[in-house]
Amino acid sequence: MKILGIETSCDETAAAIVEDGRYVLASVIASQAELHNRYGGVVPEVASRQHLEAMLPVIDATLAEASCRWQELDAIAVTSGPGLVGALLVGVNVAKALAYAKGLPLIAVNHLEAHLYANWIGEKRTDTTTPEFPLLGLVVSGGHTDMVLMAGHGQIKRLGRTRDDAAGEAFDKVARLLGLGFPGGPEIERVAAGVEHSSVRLPRAWLGGSDDVSFSGLKTAVLHLVRGEKGPPPPIEQTAAAFQEAVVDVLATKAARAAEREGARAILLSGGVAANGVLRRVLAERANVPLHVPPPILCTDNGVMVAACGFYRTRHAGWDLDVSPNLPVA
Ligand SMILES: Nc1ncnc2c1ncn2[C@@H]1O[C@H](COP(=O)(O)OP(=O)(O)OP(=O)(O)O)[C@@H](O)[C@H]1O
Ligand SMILES: [Mg+2]
Repeated sequence: MKILGIETSCDETAAAIVEDGRYVLASVIASQAELHNRYGGVVPEVASRQHLEAMLPVIDATLAEASCRWQELDAIAVTSGPGLVGALLVGVNVAKALAYAKGLPLIAVNHLEAHLYANWIGEKRTDTTTPEFPLLGLVVSGGHTDMVLMAGHGQIKRLGRTRDDAAGEAFDKVARLLGLGFPGGPEIERVAAGVEHSSVRLPRAWLGGSDDVSFSGLKTAVLHLVRGEKGPPPPIEQTAAAFQEAVVDVLATKAARAAEREGARAILLSGGVAANGVLRRVLAERANVPLHVPPPILCTDNGVMVAACGFYRTRHAGWDLDVSPNLPVA
């Protein structure tokens, strides 16, 4: 079964064709990061307009890359939420129009669930092992930080979430405090790369007894450092490394503990922050079950994960779908 996945929830206009929820035939991502860089964050109206311009060329390029004709497709899956309302509207309405015109079933996909499905993608056709349920999922993205228990496809229970900033949002805001570019995650990782253990120690909010996390106190601690309120500001690479260490410490410790407590057979890491090499390494060290992490290009927004998730939602295809900007993961 070949599914066209469409993604426009934030600042990537993306499409992909995935076979049987697992094999990527084509994936095209038009990132708007450069456009938003000068504002230090995503400007919703600019994002919507850019999606409008890029959407059809991206879909055409995807079909061409897969050497696939419309008649060969079995369904269209589209992100319906959560995300920026104007950005989601572009993807959902394009998907509706195309599904109607081409006579294809239309499947609404939850963007956060889709992030988890990036872990079902096989690199080669001979690669047939898939993650085994129950799974502990950690979605760490620009807008969300959710810890979930996945008992099966479509059976997701949220265990914890961030009480304030999402992990990616904290990376972006701290990068801005340090005078680095947007998106901040890759910038912080790059700047901190040469530091083994930072000489700076930043606080961690453990929120004992809960699977929730919180990063706003950490962000404020960086602000005090940068402003020189506790003496001369440390070198930026030391502060960046200390911040990264604190975020990774909390996420890796809490995810590893929750996986053990819930009897999970593996951990799925996903979302843009899952591209962070230190988080991948430390979580793999601390977990006592296998860790699945998508390749970095499938951690940030893409159409592949939407098509993969859509494969497991084909029973729920239908026209009655609208955008849902605040859709929770479960
Ligand atoms: N190497 C990295 N280290 C840390 N963070 C990273 C890295 N690469 C990307 N990020 C962060 O990932 C985020 C983008 O991820 P993603 O595209 O999944 O988020 P989003 O789609 O904007 O949010 P959501 O999925 O919650 O709607 C940004 O905040 C970015 O800074
Ligand atoms: Mg995302």
